[in-house]
Amino acid sequence: MKRIHSGTAICLGLVCLFFSFFISCNNSNETKESPAAGSTDSVQKVIERGKYLAHHVSLCMDCHSERDFNQFSGPMKEGTEGRGGDYFDQGVGIPGVVYAKNITPDTANGIGKYTDEELVRVITTGITRTGDTLFPIMPYPHYNTMSKDDIHSIIAYIRTLKPSSKKIPERKLMIPVSLVYPKLRSASLDSNRKPDVSDMVNYGAYMWNAAACMDCHTQMDEKGFVMSKLMAGGRKFDLGTFVVTSANLTPDTATGIGKWTEQMFLDKFKNYRDKMAYASNPGKNNSIMPWSMYANMDDFDLKAIYRFLQTLQPVNNKVEKYPPSK
Ligand code: HEC
Ligand code: HEC
Repeated sequence: MKRIHSGTAICLGLVCLFFSFFISCNNSNETKESPAAGSTDSVQKVIERGKYLAHHVSLCMDCHSERDFNQFSGPMKEGTEGRGGDYFDQGVGIPGVVYAKNITPDTANGIGKYTDEELVRVITTGITRTGDTLFPIMPYPHYNTMSKDDIHSIIAYIRTLKPSSKKIPERKLMIPVSLVYPKLRSASLDSNRKPDVSDMVNYGAYMWNAAACMDCHTQMDEKGFVMSKLMAGGRKFDLGTFVVTSANLTPDTATGIGKWTEQMFLDKFKNYRDKMAYASNPGKNNSIMPWSMYANMDDFDLKAIYRFLQTLQPVNNKVEKYPPSK
């Protein structure tokens, strides 16, 4: 049912080029991450971090679970974590149909047979344990530049999910994936760095990448993301039951969020920490933006994303959130 990321996939290569710019130029002030020690306490911390990223930042649990679009912003159906659910088809510009897989630890139909190394490879390069290549609608080009610790914590978390034997169909593509395989920046996670929190703008850029905000908030043409309009919104999502256009998040004062204070930005998200804010069917005024998931991102992380967004090129682009229906 969720019909997003249409042409997105085709163009993720550009994303990498872009991130390489942001992330690689800014390695000066990095955190020194040490691998988790073996105590139960630290294992628990690693799992918690992974859960946080999978549910509230990188949104693995958005695509890989079932969503309920009878409520505002399609919150995840409790109990479906990681079982797979979403599919993407020609309605969103995919040359065929691609299904989000079962990533619970089930050995027959989930990721139970994967080793940690194989999971790192599939999550950050799209190459599966059987050597298949995933269609880049799975945002591995973004995850490719995340820190080793963050990726390992996500893996530790998905291994704790309740195994589900749900069988997800194989994708059917009309073109070879090699045609759309993006140019990846990072050959190994060892060289990836998460900027220190004291370097708030670059830390914000890191979180923004991990959260894939740009995929929905940047328009696309046949060549890919229109980088001169990075984060300027205007991408239209037609989910059948409603049509919505993404917002301009550049610091343009007339049409973007140039006049928003950090507090306003934060409050917009915090509002959805209360279930009541999304527990009703808004009909045609629904949104594809996964508010219910991003809402529980840390205040600091949201503020850092705000700070980063404020450094972008302002783009004058007036967006109509709910375009008149056809
Ligand atoms: C935008 C939707 C989306 C998001 C977000 C997403 N995935 Fe995926 N994922 C997919 C799709 C679709 C596939 C299958 C692609 C294909 O068949 O070519 C997939 C495939 C996978 C696979 C391969 C499973 C197998 O059986 O080989 C793994 C593992 C995986 N995703 C893990 C993750 C993790 C971990 C995250 C979060 C860090 C994540 N995904 C976020 C859509 C998504
Ligand atoms: C799946 C697509 C999608 C993703 C991913 C996404 N957004 Fe959105 N976003 C939208 C759409 C569509 C709207 C307009 C409808 C609405 O307000 O819910 C929107 C609206 C917003 C608004 C409200 C702006 C206004 O003028 O009211 C903010 C703020 C925002 N997004 C921030 C973000 C940030 C930050 C991220 C990443 C952490 C992000 N979005 C990721 C689709 C997305």
